Amino acid sequence: MNAVLQPASLYRPMSPEDVEEVVQIEREIYPHPWTPGNFADSLRAGYCCWINDFGGETASYGVMLVAAGEAQLLNLGVATAWQRRGLGREMLLHLAEVARDHSAGIMLLEVRISNAPARGLYVKSGFRELGIRKNYYPAAQGREDAVVMELAL
Ligand SMILES: CC(C)(COP(=O)(O)OP(=O)(O)OC[C@H]1O[C@@H](n2cnc3c(N)ncnc32)[C@H](O)[C@@H]1OP(=O)(O)O)[C@@H](O)C(=O)NCCC(=O)NCCS
Repeated sequence: MNAVLQPASLYRPMSPEDVEEVVQIEREIYPHPWTPGNFADSLRAGYCCWINDFGGETASYGVMLVAAGEAQLLNLGVATAWQRRGLGREMLLHLAEVARDHSAGIMLLEVRISNAPARGLYVKSGFRELGIRKNYYPAAQGREDAVVMELAL
């Protein structure tokens, strides 16, 4: 027999105990990472914070605020070793389902104009560009524009 054993993938809510590992990933994948306090605040505020757990290892995570029929995607990250395997797309699909369960009709997000991988992911997942927020993000030199995107749920 030639079976390959793989750890099961599990979507579960993020807990305060996950924050340390998530912040490690955050520092590896973002030039301007969220702090532990940003994640702790999101958990305390009751935002939808999810982890994709592969046999005890965090592969990806997402943070989303749902209010008044709208979902705002605040953070989405895939650990470097897990990128380009469809997990970013899978987490987006999962969060869209969670948002629908909370009666949201649209999902909105901002993305750095220079972040081609993320913009590619969002377009591939059905988002459309709504406009530009000028100088929205801090950048290595000065500020960077954000592209605002929307997905009908
Ligand atoms: C953006 C990110 C979430 C994508 O996650 P991922 O799991 O690697 O992406 P997927 O494998 O699901 O890719 C889906 C599609 O996104 C696009 N994409 C993803 N990574 C890409 C890359 N490095 N270059 C170009 N396109 C890319 C492609 O269209 C891809 O489809 P394909 O593989 O059929 O070509 C991941 O690169 C990441 O965590 N980046 C750092 C954090 C970040 O920028 N988050 C988004 C903030 S708004």
